[in-house]
Amino acid sequence: MNILEIKNLSLAFSVGGRYYEALHNVNLSLKQGEMLAIVGESGCGKTITAMSVLKLLSPNAQITSGNILYKGENILEYSETKMRKIRGKEIALIPQDPLTSLNPLYTIGSQIEEVIKEHQEIEGKQARIIAKEVLDEVQIADSEKRLNSYPHELSGGMRQRVIIAMAIACKSNIIICDEATTALDVTVQAQITELLKEIQRTRNTAFIFISHDFGLVHKTADKTAVMYAGRVIEYANTKELFKNPKHPYTKALINALPDFNSKKLEAIEGQPPSIKEEFNGCSFEPRCTFRKDICKVKVPPCIKSENSDVLCWLYN
Ligand SMILES: Nc1ncnc2c1ncn2[C@@H]1O[C@H](COP(=O)(O)OP(=O)(O)OP(=O)(O)O)[C@@H](O)[C@H]1O
Ligand SMILES: [Mg+2]
Repeated sequence: MNILEIKNLSLAFSVGGRYYEALHNVNLSLKQGEMLAIVGESGCGKTITAMSVLKLLSPNAQITSGNILYKGENILEYSETKMRKIRGKEIALIPQDPLTSLNPLYTIGSQIEEVIKEHQEIEGKQARIIAKEVLDEVQIADSEKRLNSYPHELSGGMRQRVIIAMAIACKSNIIICDEATTALDVTVQAQITELLKEIQRTRNTAFIFISHDFGLVHKTADKTAVMYAGRVIEYANTKELFKNPKHPYTKALINALPDFNSKKLEAIEGQPPSIKEEFNGCSFEPRCTFRKDICKVKVPPCIKSENSDVLCWLYN
């Protein structure tokens, strides 16, 4: 059974009295213990997809269609009170900048204890013990001492480990990492990704791993959704996606990776469109080297095969 299912999700933003659609019929699913990556260029809709799952959207956003099923229930119908019990506990978020989720005035220990006490019936001393245990689990050395540190005393990588520790202290079922390793240097990035994989294995946690780094996703995720201009244009098992990419955009992204290309690297010409640009057909058509006449006039259907879903007229 899927722990999470995003079904036909569409979302629009109201800007200057007009609505612009920023997500179009997004379909994704996640099993317990699985890692799903969402990749794509800046502005393609990765963060708003994740924020829809947490129901943390800006006031001018409106979900115009679709469902989000968590454990089989449509959370879009949940009240804010009910969502508060899920957010940060059952579904945790690891943002790009850990300082946005840590209070500079309190020690690491008291903040971890706070989330433990907020979501579980656990008292002071016991919370302290669990706080130390989870710091050990995220491999923070000298955890006893670190409990008394303030966020500014830790490096970026260590702060990210603290946020991860909070998620596992709450026994979150789903952890959403939104560019959680992007700001870190390559070595620390690799360590944190390895830690996430470890948690996936040992705790059977499900992950949504958002990144624009296609190479990193290849090493990390079980399955991958490639987004372009608010649509999932290809969705497949990660190995399959890299071995046999179907969508011209996915192919182009892989061609731009040094590790996957012995030939000359090819950058993708042009820019992704903004949500204000309207298309009758495929939004990738202006940049596509395989385009046909129909691509300009009609949105491609989702072609499902055994190994992947692809949104492209080439496969119809
Ligand atoms: N409050 C808002 N009002 C209007 N448009 C918005 C709002 N929030 C996001 N958008 C637009 O929605 C689109 C998707 O944004 P989103 O933040 O999900 O992109 P992203 O894929 O996460 O990009 P990045 O890699 O830069 O983080 C973008 O075009 C963005 O400009
Ligand atoms: Mg984003």
